[in-house]
Amino acid sequence: MRKKVLSFLFAATMVMGLATGCGSSNTPASEGSDSGSDAAVTEAADAGEDAGDDAAATDSSSADGEVQVGIILPTKDEPRWLQDQKQFETVLGDAGFSNQVLFSQGSSSTEKTNVETLISKGIKVLIICPQDGAAAAAAVQEARDAGVKVISYDRLITGTDAVDYYVTFDSKAVGAAQGQYLIDNAPEGSDIPLYLFAGAATDNNAFIFFEGAWSVLQPKIADGTFKIANSTEAEALKDKAELSREEIGKIIGQITTDWDFNVAKSKAEANLTAVGSDMKGDVLVLAPNDGTARSIADVFASDKDVSSYVVTGQDSEKASVQYIIDGKQSMTVFKDTRTLAQDSVAMAVDILDGKEPATDSTYNNESIDVPAKQTAIIVVTKDNVKEALIDSGYYEASEFTGLE
Ligand code: GAL
Repeated sequence: MRKKVLSFLFAATMVMGLATGCGSSNTPASEGSDSGSDAAVTEAADAGEDAGDDAAATDSSSADGEVQVGIILPTKDEPRWLQDQKQFETVLGDAGFSNQVLFSQGSSSTEKTNVETLISKGIKVLIICPQDGAAAAAAVQEARDAGVKVISYDRLITGTDAVDYYVTFDSKAVGAAQGQYLIDNAPEGSDIPLYLFAGAATDNNAFIFFEGAWSVLQPKIADGTFKIANSTEAEALKDKAELSREEIGKIIGQITTDWDFNVAKSKAEANLTAVGSDMKGDVLVLAPNDGTARSIADVFASDKDVSSYVVTGQDSEKASVQYIIDGKQSMTVFKDTRTLAQDSVAMAVDILDGKEPATDSTYNNESIDVPAKQTAIIVVTKDNVKEALIDSGYYEASEFTGLE
């Protein structure tokens, strides 16, 4: 078989002024990232204005300068978070609110400064996706001390009781869907090479994704159908169906991508250099998200001894959707950011109205059980990409080429 991905047929510092008649006055973007990246603020004041310009930094506070809800996202460098930004802008724009989203650009210290700035602006609710779940505890404690309600967005903030709510996708289902896809699309035989990659160890989700994937992959590893190619820690634990957080941490220590495309690429290259030919041929790759999947896929595609690969992903990033259409990435997981943004804004509105927001589950964050609202995920392959992502209005068909 020619080299191709096996894609079988079944296959802010800122603010949102939730006040009506929000005024707009320009303020500088928060800076001071210790990673050297600028904190970026984008603006889409009121419905109809284009979202997504890079440079603008506008304070969309209410006429009296007070802002009620602040949103902070981790980085602008991953398309995933630009999707969330767009949805927040749409949801609030549709509701007649002007809005802004601030990015922490991979820096917990910028994130903390952002939180402090928002507190000083008088926010009542903070919606925050932490860069580093544990490091963000100190920042949200400051918010709690200032009487601000905290909604942890997508990623859980850990080791603190200063998180009031959590709005998230079903992350265990994400990992399980990735693992199941590999099983359903594996070549025949035994000792099929399995390459494992994970997200950042500072992200609680990375643990949950891996836990979900392991829950379905482990029996296939234990019975010799799959053979782990790149993790001695995972290999040593292959007979254990359920892993402790510490055990998962050890595995992630070896296979982390840090959610970074370049780390993913060099790790994949190093892995392929280190293995013998028995670990090449038709292979399976657990890639934790789309950005890392594309880097890893490119590395596997260019190795002449890899004849085919099946590679997972998640986020339905536009570039990965094109990879799927082109047969270069096998699947992605659609996490509908419209729902997540809507749910968290609805929660914020309830809080502002003095109502108790609806939740449907809890997540333990190593300190408390945080009341949570969880959203289901959808597996996307070449077969249902149009139905899941175009017909649902998430993307336009014109954004892709070769779509059938
Ligand atoms: C996770 C998130 C994923 C992915 C990843 C990298 O926390 O749930 O969707 O984007 O971070 O940013």
